[in-house]
Amino acid sequence: MKAVVLGAAGGIGQPLSLLLKANPAVTELALYDIVNSPGVAVDLSHIATPSKVEGFLPPDDGLKKALTGANVVVIPAGIPRKPGVSSRDDLFKINAGIVRDLATGIATTAPKAFVLVISNPVNSTVPIVAEVFKKHGVFDPKRIFGVTTLDVVRASTFVSEILGDRSLSPSVSVPVVGGHSGVTIVPLLSQSSHPLPASLDASALDGLINRIQFGGDEVVKAKDGAGSATLSMAYAGAEFAGKVIRAVKGEKGIVAPTFVNLASDKTGGDALKKELGKDLEYFSAPVELGVDGVAKIHGLGKISPAEKALVEAALPELSANIEKGIAFVEVPK
Ligand code: NAD
Ligand code: LMR
Repeated sequence: MKAVVLGAAGGIGQPLSLLLKANPAVTELALYDIVNSPGVAVDLSHIATPSKVEGFLPPDDGLKKALTGANVVVIPAGIPRKPGVSSRDDLFKINAGIVRDLATGIATTAPKAFVLVISNPVNSTVPIVAEVFKKHGVFDPKRIFGVTTLDVVRASTFVSEILGDRSLSPSVSVPVVGGHSGVTIVPLLSQSSHPLPASLDASALDGLINRIQFGGDEVVKAKDGAGSATLSMAYAGAEFAGKVIRAVKGEKGIVAPTFVNLASDKTGGDALKKELGKDLEYFSAPVELGVDGVAKIHGLGKISPAEKALVEAALPELSANIEKGIAFVEVPK
């Protein structure tokens, strides 16, 4: 099981690489960045876990060498938000090109790898990866994932806080659907594994939803110029990568919300589009993972009228973000 991190020397990349080095299912770890990746690799290589670690830089075909034989590729490369860069969409100008070029490397060297996209804006960078793969004739919608796990992790944490017991947080499970930015992040709190207290009033519920949707802003503000979430994202990214790895190795029944192409599961994707009342190409929904990647896209299930309104409010921004990503690569039809 060879895992590759593209952007491995960054704020997310380093702790994510550490967590992947600690995962015994990973036998080989390749770290690629435009700076510092060989140093990070040597540092991690002293850790007494089975995987071999190597670091690569752009010269001498570094990207190609890192990607050769890859099973799972995680992409946290690109610039993060900081105060003044108010939306994830503002990152598009720089990150779209970075993700396109890395996707080209994957499409040409490791077209069968499972690709996990962290770089923002996820709602647009996932379509960019897919369009690059289409251009190279290697697109398999089952193998490309937008990592929205941090929203799920935040929902677990914030719900456990409302329940007054942080020790519950690892077992609190809330599906978060839609996309990964502001109003496109839709927590389905009515489906929380741990129901919210009946005493929670409407404004407290709105506050909780808002905190999950805009949790990223909380971190950007607190870091005060030093970037956005890195450690919690590394935790979330390693958790999702770990699930993909377990599913690819044959474990059954693993379900996680992730932003996928709705063509990846014809039955589930079509049913979800119908449920949404919109012909969207991508959506984050609970996805059952399997040996080939996406095995089954689940629908929204039973949701409250207020959640239905949140889903509807997410669709215009989500759709515009997706179109922007697709247009950036412009596949001749
Ligand atoms: P960072 O600046 O600390 O690290 C980014 C790294 O990418 C740097 O080491 C940089 O050298 C590298 N890089 C830049 N161009 C590259 C290229 N062409 N090839 C390889 N590496 C390249 O940023 P960060 O805090 O780690 O955030 C990275 C990205 O992740 C940002 O876009 C951020 O918005 C996003 N993010 C996503 C989520 C999510 O939930 N999906 C959460 C947090 C952050
Ligand atoms: C997050 O949700 O923390 C990330 O998408 C980073 C950001 O810009 O908020």
